[in-house]
Amino acid sequence: MEIYFAPMEGMTPSLLRNMHSSYFGGCDKYFTPFISTNENYLLNHKEQRDVAPENNSGVCLVPQIISNSAHQTAEYLYLMYEKYGYREVNINMGCPSGCVVSKGKGSGMLRDPGKLEDFFMELEKEIRAVRPEGTFLPDVSIKTRIGFSSEDEYRKIMEIFLAHPVRQIIIHPRSRTQMYQGQVHLKEFGEMYEAFTNAGIGVVYNGDIRTLEDYEKIAEAFPKLDGVMIGRGLLRNPSLARYIKGGKQADNEEYLTYMEAILDGYCERIPSEKNVLAKVKDLISFAKDAFSGYDKGFRDMCKADSVESFRVCMRQYIRNSELNGL
Ligand SMILES: Cc1cc2nc3c(=O)[nH]c(=O)nc-3n(C[C@H](O)[C@H](O)[C@H](O)COP(=O)(O)O)c2cc1C
Repeated sequence: MEIYFAPMEGMTPSLLRNMHSSYFGGCDKYFTPFISTNENYLLNHKEQRDVAPENNSGVCLVPQIISNSAHQTAEYLYLMYEKYGYREVNINMGCPSGCVVSKGKGSGMLRDPGKLEDFFMELEKEIRAVRPEGTFLPDVSIKTRIGFSSEDEYRKIMEIFLAHPVRQIIIHPRSRTQMYQGQVHLKEFGEMYEAFTNAGIGVVYNGDIRTLEDYEKIAEAFPKLDGVMIGRGLLRNPSLARYIKGGKQADNEEYLTYMEAILDGYCERIPSEKNVLAKVKDLISFAKDAFSGYDKGFRDMCKADSVESFRVCMRQYIRNSELNGL
């Protein structure tokens, strides 16, 4: 079973993906945070840097797009193959954020099944129009939730996906209303899993995998999965995928080396010290509950107002905490 590192806007740029892959490994695929399509078919500088193959060598990368336009989606599929050489593109139909949903993007696509069906019908038409004779287009995978307002909507959504040429579906078994909290709906996920795998569509589970035990529970219940996708669990414990695959858990020194490499990488790329600090403080916040016994160290890190004081505090924090619950 494969393990994918989930895309997380603001948290998983190419720097983090590359560092994760070279320090810990264990992930078979990484995904870019979503790239919003636009009518000019142009990526901004940040997106270009993030997706450029030369900045992602050594990792298997899948670009993710988010759109409410079938025409733009078709153009971006073509662009991702033609300009960057990617053979798979993921379409985000799961993002719950208000400003995304209000534009009918992300999980906003799940709100009205009729519109979702129209999107796929139009996409197939647009793909035929966009693609010059004889050229290749990347496989399409979808990252989705199981409903907009409620998990009860899963059947309608499932029927639409089943009727269209999707290679793989990554399912976060929550509704949009739940954001990233509350129970994951494994019964509904199980029905989707059976229907998709029977139809030859690959299924990936995503949600709340934080430990080897969490992984084993899912892998045993759903043995035909292509894989699992892990987000917050890998920010908290970057050795989780390696450990699941039989490698070792991170120790304090290894964790610190990784965090320092990320800190140095951000310092090289981001001119403003304040912005560097914001990035690394966000990252270490996702890891907070992996460490215990030195809460004062965490507070000191949060208060640090220069990169050098942050570095000193981070060293003390990681070295003097217990790494537990990994
Ligand atoms: C800060 C943050 C940013 C995210 N950005 C994206 C994104 O750009 N694209 C996407 O498909 N999902 C995004 N997600 C959702 C994650 O990919 C994943 O589905 C979610 O965190 C649940 O998985 P987990 O429980 O393993 O973390 C984001 C989640 C978080 C917490």
